[in-house]
Amino acid sequence: MIPFSNKLLRLATTCSVAFILLALSVKQEDFKKCVDSSFCKLHREYADSVTGKQIKSSPYSILPDSTIITPKELTATITSSKDGSNLKLTASFLKDGIVRMRVQELNPEIPRYQGPGEYVLVNGEKGLISSSYDQFKVDTSSKDGSKSHLVTYNQNSKGADLKLLLAENPFSLTLLENDDPIIKVNSLGFFNFETLKPKTNSSEGVEQVFEEHFKTWTDKRPRGPQSFATDITFPGCSHLYGIPSHASPLSLKTTRGEDGMYSEPYRLYNLDVFEHLDDSPMALYGSVPFLLSHSAKRTTGVFWLSSSETWVDITRDKSVVPEIVNKLVGTADKTNMNSHWMSESGVMDAFLIPGPTPKDVFSQYASLVGTTDLPREFAIGYHQCRWNYLDQKDVVTVNSKFEEHKIPYDVIWLDIEHTDGKKYYTWDISKYPDPVEMQNILAKHGRKLVNVVDPHIKRDNDYYVYKDATEKGYFIKNSDGKDFNGWCWPGDSSWVDYFNPEASKWVADQFSLENYKNSTTNLFIWNDMNEPAIFSGPEITLNKDIVHYGGIEHRDVHNIFGMLYHKATAEGLINREPIKKRPFVLSRAYFAGSQRYGAIWTGDNASEWSHLPLSSSMILTNNLVGMHFSGADVGGFFGNPSPTMLTRWYQLGIWHPFFRAHAHIDSKRREPWLLGEPYLSHIRDSIRMRYRMLPYWYTLFHEASISGMPIVRPMWVEFPETTSTFAVDQQFMVGSALMVAPITEDGDAPYKNFMFPEQQTFYDLFEEMSLVGITSRDFPTPLGETLVFAVGGNIFPTRERHRRSSEAMKNDPYTLNLFASIKGKATGSLYLDDGETYNYKNGGYIYRKFTFQNATLTSAEAERPKDADNSMYEKFKESVRHLRFERIHVVGMRNSYSKVIITQNGVERESEITCTKKRKGRCTIRDPGLSVVDDWSIRLSL
Ligand code: NOJ
Repeated sequence: MIPFSNKLLRLATTCSVAFILLALSVKQEDFKKCVDSSFCKLHREYADSVTGKQIKSSPYSILPDSTIITPKELTATITSSKDGSNLKLTASFLKDGIVRMRVQELNPEIPRYQGPGEYVLVNGEKGLISSSYDQFKVDTSSKDGSKSHLVTYNQNSKGADLKLLLAENPFSLTLLENDDPIIKVNSLGFFNFETLKPKTNSSEGVEQVFEEHFKTWTDKRPRGPQSFATDITFPGCSHLYGIPSHASPLSLKTTRGEDGMYSEPYRLYNLDVFEHLDDSPMALYGSVPFLLSHSAKRTTGVFWLSSSETWVDITRDKSVVPEIVNKLVGTADKTNMNSHWMSESGVMDAFLIPGPTPKDVFSQYASLVGTTDLPREFAIGYHQCRWNYLDQKDVVTVNSKFEEHKIPYDVIWLDIEHTDGKKYYTWDISKYPDPVEMQNILAKHGRKLVNVVDPHIKRDNDYYVYKDATEKGYFIKNSDGKDFNGWCWPGDSSWVDYFNPEASKWVADQFSLENYKNSTTNLFIWNDMNEPAIFSGPEITLNKDIVHYGGIEHRDVHNIFGMLYHKATAEGLINREPIKKRPFVLSRAYFAGSQRYGAIWTGDNASEWSHLPLSSSMILTNNLVGMHFSGADVGGFFGNPSPTMLTRWYQLGIWHPFFRAHAHIDSKRREPWLLGEPYLSHIRDSIRMRYRMLPYWYTLFHEASISGMPIVRPMWVEFPETTSTFAVDQQFMVGSALMVAPITEDGDAPYKNFMFPEQQTFYDLFEEMSLVGITSRDFPTPLGETLVFAVGGNIFPTRERHRRSSEAMKNDPYTLNLFASIKGKATGSLYLDDGETYNYKNGGYIYRKFTFQNATLTSAEAERPKDADNSMYEKFKESVRHLRFERIHVVGMRNSYSKVIITQNGVERESEITCTKKRKGRCTIRDPGLSVVDDWSIRLSL
């Protein structure tokens, strides 16, 4: 029987959108709490019995003499005095000091899913590189009859020894930096492993509980319970970060214990949560099981490679140190943060990431899951979206209104209503009579179109996509072998099984220009609802007991399902032209590794003031876990923002890596010109600021793609020793050069308290006044103003001419903005390439490094990879030789200079510099006659 809400939905899809809202109005009760998930309940209760001392010590120990240690790995058998089970422990020593810990049955009666490594790890399972350390050594000792093995297996970037300590009884693993424990596994004794057992009849003894129920749904759990859990502790730190996606602050709140701030664990299970809360550990659309710890001493992390449902409790050990000692050594040193990981299935697989600096952690993590692929240049411009632009005329009119109001933008988007009856890859020709012409009009203005293409396929025999996939047997099947049928926007739908490589390729092929009728190379794609969202399914998603191609149970891979669709779509776009071009695909669902396929956004937020600061917390968290190209719906998806809120939202949105305005179909139209003055001007100024900064953004994207460094960064990433920054998420860094403090409150709120780490000089970007050695200060913030500071010691490029799109800026000259440090120094960079092909991978790019010291600014090409193709470089270099620096601003000078000496190719010449008397220390060199491609230096002279 179709549940009531689905009957409504059936009505809704044929009647009106108001019904859709009614039918989809989701309540928290529609989603599991920990007690509703048998394995979460089990492990939480187990942890309670350990904490409450009902269990004296962990029943898990290492079987005597089972430990074998080589420079590559440590293996041992863990045995349980609870149920006699034997487990195989492997700790592999990987490049850069990473330790991979895997646990599963020693002699499995039923094989376990071996994990999603082939999809998640950047070079698959086989691409992992073992460490090679010539001072590898093992010290085994014995205390009270229990052995422990201390393995010195590597050194970190600061030259400290990295050691792994295996304690045999009870079992625990500890990562040490010299003698300091930095990550501890099972030190609290929460390690607990349910071994897979064949189902027994009730007559054979205790009946095992296989089936699990939630509301009206039954999960058959045909393989029975198979979950596992352990505690992982980070000694000496008081802040943990990461494990998105949750609507919660950057510094993770505790979920248990006396000071538990949430009562539920953070849940990782990709779900479509309608009207999500603004402060909650509930699961949302994406999952990245990467947790980071940070203290003034070090940064570390744990990447928990499980794609099954996972819950994480966070607790803080209270400091028992007297106040006076706290003052002397800092509380953080005495505080431990604990995490308790609980996963439903697969193998226990944790990568311990040793740091010790934030930069090390990002590159270590990136060595596992890859970095953000360099996007098309247009994709970092402004995106204009709503559900829906009504018809072709509407699209063309909106486009021309941007022209009329001189607001730059790059992309306009079409939501599900552009299709013929929610059949993706088709167009509703009654509304969009000539899609190609529409795309061409946009192309003439240097702009693009994005269409939504959801993964649910309407079950309609007249729909060629459905017919073809049915005939080829590409859809996910029920246990009876029939194609799975669920409800989504089109009504009855089926979903392609991306675990079938042939089916996945077929999905990619649907994006070819030939297959996707009326698409052009100016069309890009939005993957929505790919958690997958299934209105008729448990928790609005797919039943866990569905079995995919190759016998993989959905339970094991739920959290990577959306990523596989994202991947197939991106591949489709890459392959649609003879010369491969970079794709642009936005996805709602994501997992570790999704950054290789495109952008993501935070989903359906609301036009409420509380969702504005939340967007920064969520995007910063995404950036910490490698999901750099991330944004939130500007303006809020549900509801109607006031003009002030919308203006503030734009003022913030321009500083998020993915910048798109979007709105629900029932919300009022809110294109900037509809707001009137003064809002229109403020919004125009903001969007222009984004475009001015595009060269800096593109350079940051390039750097993220090679180093894994976040693009937007929590303050602590740049000021790792300033403890007062550790929980700050309403003031953040864009790269290392800019510090942004958005105004996220209504009304007059005339002042914003801004926090400054003391070690540096900060310059108000607009006033260019400097602030040194203060820790906080109030600033007036009338509606037209935003607070952005340049950090002393940085140089960043901008393009200052107002154009209609990023493409129209391609030949514009650059400005260099130099802000000196306290010591009168600065560094920075500029990256450019053709913005669309993969030629950059073969050397077709320019990457300039700027250095300023002793009053001299130099520009030099960054070191190039040894295997880079020189001819590609030379060719690209010549194609951009005409790009020049039209202006160089230097700020924070102690002297007032009267001229500059420019040296190029060994030849010196003099040029002009003007220093303002009003604002001391600010000078401008106009048109120094220098190309972006050449080496040169400029000496400032009195
Ligand atoms: C849900 C998405 O989150 C939202 O952005 C989109 O507009 C609707 N689906 C309709 O496609």
